[in-house]
Amino acid sequence: MESKVKELVAEVESVSIANPDQAEQFRLKYLSKKGILAELFEEFKTLVPEQRKLVGKQLNELKQLAEKKLNEAKESVAQNGYSGEKNIDLSLPAEHAELGSRHPISLVRASITDIFTKIGFTISEGPEIEDDWHNFGALNFPEDHPARDMQDTFFVESGNDEKWLLRTHTSSVQVRVMKNQKPPIRTISPGRVYRNETISARAHCQFHQVEGLYVDEGVSFANLKQTLYYFVHEMFGEDIQIRFRPSFFPFTEPSAEMDISCIICGGKGCPVCKQSGWVEILGCGMVHPNVLENCGIDSKKYTGYAFGMGIERITMLRYQIKDLRMFFENDMRFLSQFKSVL
Ligand code: DAH
Repeated sequence: MESKVKELVAEVESVSIANPDQAEQFRLKYLSKKGILAELFEEFKTLVPEQRKLVGKQLNELKQLAEKKLNEAKESVAQNGYSGEKNIDLSLPAEHAELGSRHPISLVRASITDIFTKIGFTISEGPEIEDDWHNFGALNFPEDHPARDMQDTFFVESGNDEKWLLRTHTSSVQVRVMKNQKPPIRTISPGRVYRNETISARAHCQFHQVEGLYVDEGVSFANLKQTLYYFVHEMFGEDIQIRFRPSFFPFTEPSAEMDISCIICGGKGCPVCKQSGWVEILGCGMVHPNVLENCGIDSKKYTGYAFGMGIERITMLRYQIKDLRMFFENDMRFLSQFKSVL
């Protein structure tokens, strides 16, 4: 028993107590009713009188040592203002909290919607999983149109005869809005779209568009041009030139594509505009009478214009980003550059 007590003296001396938890553990282990010392005092009772004299002294010393250790530890923990896991120096400067940043696509989407809501456009949204009718049929796509091909569109298994797909453009929202509202309708529909494309610096299988639609009595192509002039000048500045080229979309007649003078080289010619001085930013046109009728709008009474643009395209021009894939890679080195609020 003598050597046991000696070992325990050494053990107690070597224990370090740094926080209230450890102090309590120490107390439980050595000094509580079921602790080591209580056990030793029980054992002590069984000793013969000669041994008791010596061991009794040692035991008392051990008890005092343990009590002293515990009291000192409690005092020092209280003096250092212990709180939580570590001692905190309240005079230190606060830890820097990293601020997040908005995704460039979100920034540009927000500025596009701001520009159009200022002149009375509402914002409308539709589902990303669409049926064939909203994405193609109502928009006057013929049955055999190549866009309906598996090579271009992601179809979704529906379990029945109905064709479901990931919408290939936000023009599908036009159809929903026209079905549910009466003219005058003036709305833009931002959102994500999907196409079965090989991913490269210039193409991706997911991207974002903003669709625009205005339907009322007497809406003309001149109204469309004026609205788009306003948009481009707000978005890119007053010096930007604009041109329209005739084009074809099944859902508009006449149809056009709109180019702006290259914002990188000012129209002189550079790799971004492929030396032409112009970059295409959107498709547009007068809503085809068939589309109006498909959506329950009297095409003899009402006319409308529509346009659709890619947000990635505008963002790449605005921030001079050369590779579309960067938008989807979530690389912090790229994303943290867009701290500004537009
Ligand atoms: N939906 C077309 C596309 O994804 C873009 C577009 C062109 C939308 C002309 C329109 C429009 O509303 O009038 O390429």
